[in-house]
Amino acid sequence: MDYLPIALSLVAVLVALYYFITRNHNLFKKHGIVHIPPTPLFGNMGSLARRQITIMDLLTKTYQLDSKAKYIGFYEFLTPVIVLRDLDLIKAVTMKNVEQFSDHRPLVNKKVDPMLGGMLFMLNGDQWKHHRNMLSPTFTSSKIKTMFKLMSECASRFAEHLSNLPEEQRETEMKGLLTKYTNDVIASCVYNVSIDSVKEPNNVFYVYGKISTSLATFKRTLIILVHRNVPWLAELLQLKVVDSHIAKFFYDQVAESVEIRQRTGARRSDILQLFMDNNKKREPRQEMTVQDMANHAFSFFFGGFDTVSSQTCIIAHLLAENPDVQERLQQEIDETLENNNGELTYDAMHEMKYLDAVINETLRLYPIAAFLDRMCVKDFELPPARPGDKPFTVKAGMNIWIPVSAIHQDPKYYENPSKFDPDRFYENNKAITNSGAYMPFGLGPRMCIGNRFALTEMKVLLCHVLAKCSIKLAPRTITPLQFEKGVFNLTGRNGFWLAIEPRKSSYCFFSVSASAVSCN
Ligand code: HEM
Ligand SMILES: *[C@@H]1O[C@H](CO)[C@@H](O)[C@H](O)[C@H]1NC(C)=O
Ligand SMILES: *[C@@H]1O[C@H](CO)[C@@H](O)[C@H](O)[C@H]1NC(C)=O
Ligand SMILES: *[C@@H]1O[C@H](CO)[C@@H](O)[C@H](O)[C@H]1NC(C)=O
Repeated sequence: MDYLPIALSLVAVLVALYYFITRNHNLFKKHGIVHIPPTPLFGNMGSLARRQITIMDLLTKTYQLDSKAKYIGFYEFLTPVIVLRDLDLIKAVTMKNVEQFSDHRPLVNKKVDPMLGGMLFMLNGDQWKHHRNMLSPTFTSSKIKTMFKLMSECASRFAEHLSNLPEEQRETEMKGLLTKYTNDVIASCVYNVSIDSVKEPNNVFYVYGKISTSLATFKRTLIILVHRNVPWLAELLQLKVVDSHIAKFFYDQVAESVEIRQRTGARRSDILQLFMDNNKKREPRQEMTVQDMANHAFSFFFGGFDTVSSQTCIIAHLLAENPDVQERLQQEIDETLENNNGELTYDAMHEMKYLDAVINETLRLYPIAAFLDRMCVKDFELPPARPGDKPFTVKAGMNIWIPVSAIHQDPKYYENPSKFDPDRFYENNKAITNSGAYMPFGLGPRMCIGNRFALTEMKVLLCHVLAKCSIKLAPRTITPLQFEKGVFNLTGRNGFWLAIEPRKSSYCFFSVSASAVSCN
């Protein structure tokens, strides 16, 4: 038997494969753009895939390659990505030239996973514009104000639970606990379902919510990689990120509720109601279908369950590490309650300057969205990265990343950037948020639609909890904060362990006011 043809074809296949997996890895070298030399297949993601680094540190390392460059090259596995450093260019991409960068790179194949693919974050072009316009009226301050009441009920119950923990349970893993709070808030604000996940951790909402949002499992990461890189294969194999029975559960919740309300005329101050009311103001052609409503409701679940709980864990951790900050915050909370007969109102909460500063500073130091991404839809010429370089044309289909955490840590914009110092927001009130170097919720028309919802949800919780309890470092707390390496979601190493202690003296303990929301 003649082995030569077989050997030759094997070589040919290997060469083709090698060419395929390295074909894009020449781009930045060819154009003289600063980058870390890529390794085959992994590009610049090798250390992340081997779990040796966090995504934040990887981006910071990339960002710091050249402090004079307006942008840097990066290989996300096989895909070249431009990492922007220059704030004016960032503004150009996210705001001025937004029609050229209106999209995200598709994360899932919509034909296979309609519920995930129908979420606002995944929509592109005109479809995105249409749905964003339909959703925007849901998040105005007056609408958030009505949801504040529902949030406050959940937070008050949660604080009550924490302040009554038996001695031996006071050291707790905050992430597990806080997802119960965010779950209950979303279930209440979005789906008109009142649950208490602390008391009943086996309720379907919580169980399904946790499964459908934990994107970091190995299987899910693989599935998403297939969706992102070989969408036809995902379609062929019908690889679903969210299992059908879970998607059906969330769909049924919405369909049933809509049906009841249409039949009985019942109303509630939740997001579904807003969807339905807004439909009445539209031409029939423009109305949201029940499937649209189900997708968006699910998308708030998806966007708001893990983000808010992780970010709140980080706040809690920083408060435990900085007892002086915590005391000052508790003082502000006590005073606010005192001035409002023990009741936490929406307006009083939004007057709390130190609370605002503590949250904003946490979002600066540890933004859970470490980077933003945009996909180019029409060729765009970038100016030379460094003086003397040539301009570079971003081709349609190419990705841009904005390294949020690295910018938030740049001493050019923040003095002593690694220090947790809420006073930088307290004193300069608004100066930072207007500087262009602060973007925890993203930038431009595609920024987080739920930012006010999220801020309110976190503030309500902190007010109720800190009025009754203090948060302390525990034996299992890792200080300073360390994050899990090699995952895309920001998770504390070994979780977020902290100790909760009831306060001995606080407004709640000398108040006799019966109307007190947080001191019952
Ligand atoms: C602390 C909590 C949160 C953080 C840090 C956060 C952060 C972000 C970021 C960085 C983006 C991308 C923005 C961009 O590319 O410019 C985003 C998009 C989005 N977020 Fe949030 N988010 C949070 C909570 C929420 C909540 C509670 C909801 C829903 C109620 C939500 C719904 C969305 C949606 C729908 C989008 C996509 C917007 C679009 O593409 O038009 N987020 N979020
Ligand atoms: C985040 O990543 C960790 C570590 O891989 C994982 O255990 C956890 O379930 C993830 N959480 C979510 C909500 O994705
Ligand atoms: C909202 O939930 C309550 C109980 O949780 C229920 O009695 C009411 O019918 C629901 N409203 C609608 C309009 O679905
Ligand atoms: C904190 O951030 C929010 C938006 O993220 C902004 O509206 C607010 O003005 C900021 N507060 C201060 C004191 O900078």
